[in-house]
Parts: sequence; C-alpha cells; structure tokens
Amino acid sequence: MSKAPSLRLDRLLSNLGYGSRREVQQLIWADLVTLDGNVVDDSDEKIPVTRDLAARMTVDGEALDPPPGMALMMNKPLGVTCSHKELGPLVYALLPERWRRREPAISTVGRLDKETSGLLLMTDDGALLHKIIAPRSNVSKRYDVTLDRPLRGDEMKLFASGAMMLEGEDKPLLPAHMEVAGDKRAYVTISEGRYHQVRRMFAACGNHVTALHRDRVGGLALPNDLKAGDYRLLNEADLAQVLEARA
Ligand code: URA
Repeated sequence: MSKAPSLRLDRLLSNLGYGSRREVQQLIWADLVTLDGNVVDDSDEKIPVTRDLAARMTVDGEALDPPPGMALMMNKPLGVTCSHKELGPLVYALLPERWRRREPAISTVGRLDKETSGLLLMTDDGALLHKIIAPRSNVSKRYDVTLDRPLRGDEMKLFASGAMMLEGEDKPLLPAHMEVAGDKRAYVTISEGRYHQVRRMFAACGNHVTALHRDRVGGLALPNDLKAGDYRLLNEADLAQVLEARA
C-alpha cells in the first residue's frame, strides 16, 4: 500500500475550509485540535492524511470534516444547477458551508440538468472524477424516464442499434438499453454523457421527456432512504460498485 501523503496541520485545516492559515493557527494554539485524543498544538506538525483521519481528529470538539480524497452521492433535487459559476440555486449550496471553501474544491462527477433529479456523485479527487467520466471507463447511468406521449414501440431497437444520430452531431450514439416500464415510462441506460442526451433521444422519436430521474451510476443505486437534497459520503465499497458494472 502506498504511504499516505502528509500535510502540515495548518495547511490541512485551511484546505478543508476551517479558515485562513492565520485563523486555523489560532484554533491550533487555543488547543482546540486533537488527534487520537491528544491536543496537537504545533501548527507545523506533519499529519499523514489517512482515510480514517475524520474519526481520529477533532476540531473544537467536533469530528474533522472528510479529509481530501472524499466522494459523496447526493439525491439531486429538481431546480438546482450542477455548476460552480451559474446564477441561481446550485447543488453546492446543499453542502455544509465550510465544504464549499475546500481546496481542492468539490465538483460534480459529470452533470445532471437543472430539471433532472436523482443520483449525483461529487468528489474533490480529480483522478477519481476522471476515472468515472472518461469515455473509455464506460460507466453506465440509468434513468427513469416519464414521457408526454405513449412509446411508439421502436425506441428500444433504435437506442440499442449503435447507429442513432442526434440532431447536430456527426457521431452515432453508443448502444443504449431501454426497458419499458409503462405506456409513457421507461428505464434507459446509457454509457455516454452527451448534452441532454436522454431528452434528445426521445425528442428524436417524436416524444418529450416530462420527468427524468437518475437512479443508478455503474452498479451503485440511489438508496431509497436518501431524500431529495440529502447526501451521503461514499466508502471504498460504494466506489467499487460505481466502477464494477462497466460495459
Ligand atoms: N440526459 C439528459 O437529457 N439530461 C440529464 O440530466 C442526463 C441525461
């Protein structure tokens, strides 16, 4: 196993959003930081950043925030945007305020449209993000789709063909899987992430998506008890599930 990277205590806390270097030094010198039950009062102390650090370190009596290399899943509600820049309600506003000051920043793993709900992954780990979204990773995403009009009947075959073209594009879509769940309802599993892909696939069939909800990324399902707007940290087993069901 590779050795955990170490960070100076003041840098670690500052990167986690606890304040400027100077502000976190005040916390440290006020004996408000403990590691394994002992006060750490040296802001220069090198701290190995291990996965269990949140369970071993406290700041002002509370468990440390998740150390760098964290990932979480959110049940994204409707009406919030997956962007750091746009105006209006952003998914990041649903996280604790301090987490929004972290460096490296937490980013969404791909995006869901403002009017799409469901399973959204977020991480501060660029390598992990890339591993999940890189086209050759082939991580599938499943959507629960509600339609305006009844299915025609040929959608499943068209989506699976590997020859479907979306308007304005010059490369066919990779084969996608569709399961009928009702007259106006289907589950669609895709392994790409083109702009508004699922909505455009149905638009190309003369239909209109009225509700879109992602319930699965790779082999990881959105838990039934995770309410809209809530989030949960991912552990190693969850991440293995995300990557397990690659096509
Ligand atoms: N396809 C869409 O059309 N929108 C999403 O948010 C995700 C997939």
